[in-house]
Amino acid sequence: MRVVFLAPLYPPEMQQYTRGLAEVGAEVYGVADTPREAVPQHVRQYLHDYLQVPRIMDENDVLERVTAWLRGKTVDRIVTNWEPLVVLAAKLRERFEMPGMSVDVARGFRDKQLMKERVRAAGLRVPKSARTRSETDVLEAAEEIGYPLILKPIDGAGSANTYKVRSQKELLTVLPKMRGVPEAIVEEYIEGEEFTFDTVCIGGKPAFENVAAYLPKPLEMRTVEWISPVIITVRNMLQPKLLPGIELGRRVLGALGMDDGFTHMEWYLTEKGEAIFGEIGCRPGGACLVDQMNYTCDIDLFREWANVICHRTFSASTTRKYNAGIVFKRAMGQGKISRIEGLGAYMAECGPWVTEERLLRPGTPRRNWKNTLLSDGYVHVRHPSWAEAHRMAFMAATNIRMFAE
Ligand SMILES: Nc1ncnc2c1ncn2[C@@H]1O[C@H](COP(=O)(O)OP(=O)(O)OP(=O)(O)O)[C@@H](O)[C@H]1O
Ligand SMILES: [Mg+2]
Repeated sequence: MRVVFLAPLYPPEMQQYTRGLAEVGAEVYGVADTPREAVPQHVRQYLHDYLQVPRIMDENDVLERVTAWLRGKTVDRIVTNWEPLVVLAAKLRERFEMPGMSVDVARGFRDKQLMKERVRAAGLRVPKSARTRSETDVLEAAEEIGYPLILKPIDGAGSANTYKVRSQKELLTVLPKMRGVPEAIVEEYIEGEEFTFDTVCIGGKPAFENVAAYLPKPLEMRTVEWISPVIITVRNMLQPKLLPGIELGRRVLGALGMDDGFTHMEWYLTEKGEAIFGEIGCRPGGACLVDQMNYTCDIDLFREWANVICHRTFSASTTRKYNAGIVFKRAMGQGKISRIEGLGAYMAECGPWVTEERLLRPGTPRRNWKNTLLSDGYVHVRHPSWAEAHRMAFMAATNIRMFAE
């Protein structure tokens, strides 16, 4: 099985999928803009061949270069797990008449308005929304939809340029901040808890499913610096409270024409117990969510995904053993990390349940928490009991403190 894998190096977790593909017997043809000589040996060993392109985001250029590179070669799959490249991968598949999702299907997972229209057409509950291309469009849509509303880019990620707007007065202050965004979406604001619904699918049917709770919701994670965001996978997916969201998720996959691979959906649970669609991507969740799912079941989804892509089989256990939490930390102060407080006491109490601790050490420059949820590092902690996992995650959020100067 020969697999073209777009972006085998960056974001860093992509290296794990590259490993997975090689481990299940694929010849991996990597395409990225990392200089050939900078490909680290631990990844190079998994690559059968590598094409360095000048700009991986330059769709037309990459299309032409990959076409020239593949001339005379036979390949069986063209895939990516990185959101900005899912349409490009589909374009290449169409050009080479490969199996997998078409450009039209991939667009349904990329364009937030198109995806909502398709999900709505399947009779599922979606926030009211409108596509906008100018300030006048936004004002008209706001009139129609009412306040509070959400204004965000049509193909955004990481909650960038995403605003909750409570009144027209506030809208007028937000509009100038959106000037670099060519297409935006205006949405009815949904009050409620926020969860993920993640899958690895074979032919649009989940071979693996996961739900994780966002604590607090991602927009707050992205706007309040002093928060230590927590995400916990839910061990017991049979609890009645989650069923509407899981049912919604499965139907969304059908409505959008999912085929093989990862999906990452976000949904809201209202006070009345109604599940409302948020968004979905045909790729894995970021910010270590796949590690969390692995810790939930003690499996290797990086390799399992590769099995699905190459052999359409999923053989890992889906028995959920733990609620697996992650806690992202943000240091107080600017510059370099100067000290960490409370880590020793935390490890003394929770150490046996901590699966990974990756806080930045003193001397390391702070990461930009607005650009990456990974922030100044994170702690993975898990427990079979939800209450214990929740307690230990929030203990890390409160008691571990990082400082920078
Ligand atoms: N209609 C809505 N009602 C309530 N909250 C919303 C709504 N739309 C977006 N949000 C909040 O903003 C966050 C970011 O929005 P969305 O998920 O659409 O964009 P994104 O930038 O692709 O997100 P991600 O952080 O998953 O990459 C959501 O997770 C949610 O917290
Ligand atoms: Mg999102």
